[in-house]
Amino acid sequence: MDASAQGSKPGCGLASSLARQFGRPAGLAGSMIGPFMAWRNRRLNRLAVKLLQARWADRVLEIGFGPGKCIRFLARAVGEGLVAGADWSEVMVAQAARRNRLYVRAGEVDLRLACVTALPFPDGRFTRALAVDSFQFWPDQARGLAEVRRVLGEKGRLLLVLRLRTGRRRFPRLPGFTEQDLPAVEEMVRRAGFGEVRVERRDIGAPVAGLIAAR
Ligand SMILES: C[S@@+](CC[C@H](N)C(=O)[O-])C[C@H]1O[C@@H](n2cnc3c(N)ncnc32)[C@H](O)[C@@H]1O
Repeated sequence: MDASAQGSKPGCGLASSLARQFGRPAGLAGSMIGPFMAWRNRRLNRLAVKLLQARWADRVLEIGFGPGKCIRFLARAVGEGLVAGADWSEVMVAQAARRNRLYVRAGEVDLRLACVTALPFPDGRFTRALAVDSFQFWPDQARGLAEVRRVLGEKGRLLLVLRLRTGRRRFPRLPGFTEQDLPAVEEMVRRAGFGEVRVERRDIGAPVAGLIAAR
């Protein structure tokens, strides 16, 4: 794996344990971070839905859905389709299931506790897959991308929404990518077998990149 595509990872100390919670919320701190994440990423999730262009009857998979805001937007967009999700945090699965309980009960949303490197879905199940502010936390990004590609059908689309870090230093410093990391991320996506890779840049009060690719 090209290390330059990983984004910066948290170090040690108090700030970094908070940063780790963003990567896998757990316990009481994790349950408090969920609502904050839903607020902090509200614009990011709206942008993701726009860039994904999910249509009626699409079957969409979200990796790292966190508190489940985007899942709800997507469930509205795909109507009689399906929205599924995989997140490796028990706390986030519980919060997202609560937020989307009506869709879950109706069988329109299927949320699983799973890591992106071992998705509990059959080959070719989905028409679209996305990850919002999650890719930088994946333990093995190349394996994760290969696994996402496996569950996408022919002509399936991938969207990675990445926050771009600027020079401004904030506390705590969360893991993420810079503009300079993007070519390595694009290359990694290509090496996982995706084509038609392109990057859309947006400013939502902070710079964001949407990497879009075809299976
Ligand atoms: C910063 S949060 C973003 C949550 C949500 N996408 C949002 O925009 O609000 C990152 C999420 O990705 C999940 N995550 C990170 N690595 C993962 C992995 N390898 N497999 C599944 N989920 C993962 C975390 O548990 C967390 O819920």
